[in-house]
Amino acid sequence: MTMALPVKDVPDVEPVLERFDPFELQDTVSGDIRDPYPRLGELRRQHPVHSGPIDIGDGLPESDPNRPAPITVLGFDESVQVLRDNETYSSSVYEGIMGLVMGKTILQMDEPEHRLHRALVSPTFRSKVLERWEGDLVQRVVDELIDDFAADGSADLVQRLTFNFPVQVIAAILGLPRGDFPRFQRWTIELTSVAANWERGVAASEALRDYFAGVVEERRAKPADDLISDLVGMEVEGRGLDDEEIFSFLRLLLPAGVETTYRASGNLLYGLLTNPDQLRAVRENRSLLPVAFEEMIRWEPPVTVILRRAMVDTELAGVPVEKGADVGLLLGSANRDERKYEHPERFDIFRASRQSLGFGFGVHVCLGMHLARMETRVAMNTLLDRLSDLELAPAPGQDLHIKGMAFRSPIALPVTFVASR
Ligand code: HEM
Repeated sequence: MTMALPVKDVPDVEPVLERFDPFELQDTVSGDIRDPYPRLGELRRQHPVHSGPIDIGDGLPESDPNRPAPITVLGFDESVQVLRDNETYSSSVYEGIMGLVMGKTILQMDEPEHRLHRALVSPTFRSKVLERWEGDLVQRVVDELIDDFAADGSADLVQRLTFNFPVQVIAAILGLPRGDFPRFQRWTIELTSVAANWERGVAASEALRDYFAGVVEERRAKPADDLISDLVGMEVEGRGLDDEEIFSFLRLLLPAGVETTYRASGNLLYGLLTNPDQLRAVRENRSLLPVAFEEMIRWEPPVTVILRRAMVDTELAGVPVEKGADVGLLLGSANRDERKYEHPERFDIFRASRQSLGFGFGVHVCLGMHLARMETRVAMNTLLDRLSDLELAPAPGQDLHIKGMAFRSPIALPVTFVASR
């Protein structure tokens, strides 16, 4: 581990490519699966819970005969049952995965430790508190990005907008100087694609730790109006977060808050652009935007799978679950459970039930969901205000589709439009 450096002394790294090619990220993090849902539906209709390795569309996973049979949960009610029972189904399974590059975070903690840590960080993410970022900050970031291509009449919205705005929003909310955004974005990308390149991901994790150490030290000395100052000053029952806990939490925010949100806005745009009547309805009545967002989170959740580990021998929907078994909850499948939704495969912002598991459920339900909703609403509203006649404009032979398995989003969204201002 390198020594902590004050922010100003962080050595210069190569500047990040201004327009990072999302293809690279997509291929490394998500694979190229176009549509896993027919296969997931088939499996779900066989049984909502499966024991043992199954091919969900990307080949049969390797299995260790010395470990308990892995469990795959495909049904809505069965997923809720697991997420509600966080004593039987532990989040400690993440220790050996994300914990290795992020440090110990609330994602992998069980009760009562989780409750205390979540209470420390959650005030900062309440929707009321987030209002202070909306006007100046999120709006400014989105406007700047749109300024950059509005006059062109056409753009790839993944490259020009969705891929860039969440990382800039997080950086600004954290209070990082603008000059640091490029290196911050690069570390973020390297950390979130750790599965594709372990050494690079670990190096980014260490660089971020050192970088944050400098910022935290500065904020302890001189608090500012930003999230890092909030975290530094936070206390619950006389206990605050120590530095290492703050670094881990900040590192968790990157994959948790940047990657998911960029994919979410891409999926929402894809849903609307491929259903022009619904796009028109939203354009004419912006109060439908939050509704459209929730339908996207159901229909094409950016995160399709989360994990738990069984702590005792038990059973789920009649399937035996052995103590120590890894339990994969396929949120994307649960969100298309035909026992709960009519025509689950349709993107339909007017459907009756919009409740879904796209943000998880139970004690670990997404901490940043209000931020994700707010950011995406601002981005979509601004886009609709500034660009009319938005239409998809694929190149000949270009297959525009949401792709990936564990993480899903469109690789590109080429559009044409008329700029209104
Ligand atoms: C549309 C965007 C997002 C989606 C789809 C999403 C999805 C999820 C899901 C499914 C979980 C549950 C994980 C589990 O139970 O194992 C989760 C947890 C979490 N999310 Fe999000 N997320 C999004 C945006 C954000 C943002 C913007 C932030 C913060 C800036 C964030 C921070 C977190 C944190 C800290 C947790 C862990 C909560 C805990 O363990 O108590 N997420 N998210």
